[in-house]
Amino acid sequence: MANYIDVLKENKQEHLLNYLKMADETQKKELINEIENINFEQLSELYKISKRDNEKAIESQLIEHVKFVDKYKMSEDDFNKYKETGENIIKNGEYAVVTMAGGQGTRLGHNGPKGTFLLDVKPKPKYLFEILVDNIKRANEKYGVTLNWYIMTSTENDAKTEEFFEEHNYFDYPKDKIKFFKQGNLPLISEEGKLLVDENFHIKYAADGNGCIYKSMRLDGVLDDMKQKGIKWVFIGAVDNALLNMVDPILLGLTVCEGNQIGSKSVVKRSPEEPVGVFCKRNGKPGVIEYTELPTEMAHEVDDDGELLFGESHIMCNLYSIDAINKISKEKLPYHSAHKKAPFMNEKGEIVKTTNPNAYKYEAFIFDGFAFFDNISILRGRRNEDFAPVKNAEGSDSPATAVELYNNYWKV
Ligand code: UTP
Repeated sequence: MANYIDVLKENKQEHLLNYLKMADETQKKELINEIENINFEQLSELYKISKRDNEKAIESQLIEHVKFVDKYKMSEDDFNKYKETGENIIKNGEYAVVTMAGGQGTRLGHNGPKGTFLLDVKPKPKYLFEILVDNIKRANEKYGVTLNWYIMTSTENDAKTEEFFEEHNYFDYPKDKIKFFKQGNLPLISEEGKLLVDENFHIKYAADGNGCIYKSMRLDGVLDDMKQKGIKWVFIGAVDNALLNMVDPILLGLTVCEGNQIGSKSVVKRSPEEPVGVFCKRNGKPGVIEYTELPTEMAHEVDDDGELLFGESHIMCNLYSIDAINKISKEKLPYHSAHKKAPFMNEKGEIVKTTNPNAYKYEAFIFDGFAFFDNISILRGRRNEDFAPVKNAEGSDSPATAVELYNNYWKV
């Protein structure tokens, strides 16, 4: 096996040798161990992604409009058929919900896991996690079940998330029905392609994106647990939507009746510029184009009725058969690069905090899992019923807008 010094030189990471000179014995041992565990081949592939021209990458693909069903424009017969089909599955105990709570929430800037953010709703403020618990409790009451709830955390927020649930007595949800599992990490890379180090002489890592959920569900035993419990359909949603409806029998019934293995709820994009991903067919397969990847011209394209051609927003409201998750969990999802602010320690031992993005973070996106199927059922919901995202500290998609949407919906 090659010596770590040679490995660093070979991979143009010899700047790490300077940190090894500054570190004490324990720090040095740990850093060498981390270096030995880095997949440098993957690192170089990831760095290439950051240097790719996204608009050009999209131009080389066939991007088409995708069909959807409007929840409020379908026939009464269809509505009732979907409702009955979905409700039967839920009542039979074959349905479970998963929350993705591993994100960093950098835009919101809350100190702690995003689910622990207190939203000032009426009649009393509620934590984002508490809003989700209430949502599940309501469904339990309605369908006479106690749904299993799985929560994905990351290395960064796992301990704090579990402590929070302990402190709040799991919001009176049966503790044995809640399971936490952890997603993986990938190194951050500087603009020059160098690994970054933190003040404790550890290589800087970040969560590997919500698309790694499928793999994590298999590796962390969540899929096995679900199979053992007889769960056949799984909802996966985000932690930061105050109007997230995790148990919608219409979405479930539609997906089953259309003979699909995956389904998703959409809402109409507010404007061509809204920073959300939109559904499409990509080279014939269902997919989503992120707002950062959608060329401006395509974002403005309209159909004969004047509706945006790429106007069905992906709101992280996804449904899968257990077989679908199993299938995706064995596939390799692409990574996307994001330019982020990442404080680090320089080679003089000084902490550097930048005001501009200085590093690349690599993430797999949950919707890239759709491409392993021929079709997806898309149910268009309504923004004021389904989507109150808490993304930014102020302005659009902020706590203030989410509070307003929540209070209006619940008429409080
Ligand atoms: P976002 O993409 O909005 O990211 O996550 P974020 O981390 O919450 O916020 P920013 O971009 O840093 O401001 C959408 C959903 O996916 C989860 C988030 O917790 C949220 O529920 N997520 C994101 C993960 O679970 N893991 C990840 O690695 C990234």
